[in-house]
Amino acid sequence: MRIKTRHLRLDARAPAAEPIQLASRTIRAGGLVAFPTETVYGLGANALDAAAVAKIFAAKGRPSNDPLIAHIADIDQLPAIARDIPAEAYAFAQRFWPGPLTLVLPKSPAVPPNVTAGLDSVAARVPDHPVARALLEAAALPIAAPSANRFARPSPTRAQHVLDDLDGAFDLLLDAGPTSIGVESTILSLVECRPRLLRPGGLPLEELRELAPDLRYEPGYANDQAAQTAPGQMLRHYSPRARVLLFQGEGDAVLHAMRREALRPPRAGLLLSDADALTFEDLDLRVERLGADADEAAFRLFAGLRALDRAGVERILVRACDEKGRGLAVRDRLLRAAVGQLIEV
Ligand code: TXA
Ligand code: MG
Repeated sequence: MRIKTRHLRLDARAPAAEPIQLASRTIRAGGLVAFPTETVYGLGANALDAAAVAKIFAAKGRPSNDPLIAHIADIDQLPAIARDIPAEAYAFAQRFWPGPLTLVLPKSPAVPPNVTAGLDSVAARVPDHPVARALLEAAALPIAAPSANRFARPSPTRAQHVLDDLDGAFDLLLDAGPTSIGVESTILSLVECRPRLLRPGGLPLEELRELAPDLRYEPGYANDQAAQTAPGQMLRHYSPRARVLLFQGEGDAVLHAMRREALRPPRAGLLLSDADALTFEDLDLRVERLGADADEAAFRLFAGLRALDRAGVERILVRACDEKGRGLAVRDRLLRAAVGQLIEV
């Protein structure tokens, strides 16, 4: 069913009261609001209203076995969605909230089962974006929100990405410009005996390790089935329409291999760091830049993949970055977009 999506622009630093009030009323009435967080745009609904949450799955075409993140205004709201909260959860929350960290905790019975895909745990996050925070405070409810893209597409880092995927499938878009981090939150599970990283993201693993030296992380890209044993970790994710060819190797050898591949049909586009882009200036190929470091790459990654798709290329050539800082998240998203395949040079 197609509905009229309202599009309201607001100041990212000082959001006006009126659009926030309208968004809050929409959430409280069981509607869907897309809003910016510091990571990516989310598609939100009242997390305590199963019928409202069901609309999120329908709008995105998201399988019902992929659980959602419940967003709250602050740490004090945590008992509204979680129970038996361990002391270490408060330690992580105090250090990293508001911010790009999601904690998986035992679920409160108040949270309807479709939010958590039937799991006994719930993913909780306090976002650090003035618009998200103002909305959460005004609505005074936990808001369930996955990234506001169609299922398996790259996450939206700009309002236009949300409209490209979902215009007519939700009620209201709060548009506050590009999101500052650009990759999704880091997800940390605290329901096992040791903390486990479920998804690398905006908060670097190094920072989590300062608080949890025994943290476990076992990346799995082996194949679709193995990757799907963890909820939402399916391999084919964050995918542009074009095929992604992910290269890895030493210095110039990689650039030469990419160059040879780029000149073959079908039409290729490139996703390149500023330094690598210089090497390709003589070729008449579509290039999107990832900037000079891992933070810039995180900020530009999804917009770059989407821009190359829009340009109609059939293949996207990109070089795997190293794993420092947000590089780990960028590499993870690229590996998923490349369906787990690395071209070693
Ligand atoms: O940055 C973000 O996290 C963004 C913004 C909007 O907050 N949200 C986001 O949501 O990326 P989404 O739905 O695209 O990813 C949520 C993922 C699921 O796919 C799943 O991997 C994990 O969170 N998740 C949610 N609940 C879980 C649970 N109970 N146990 C394990 N993983 C869970
Ligand atoms: Mg998502």
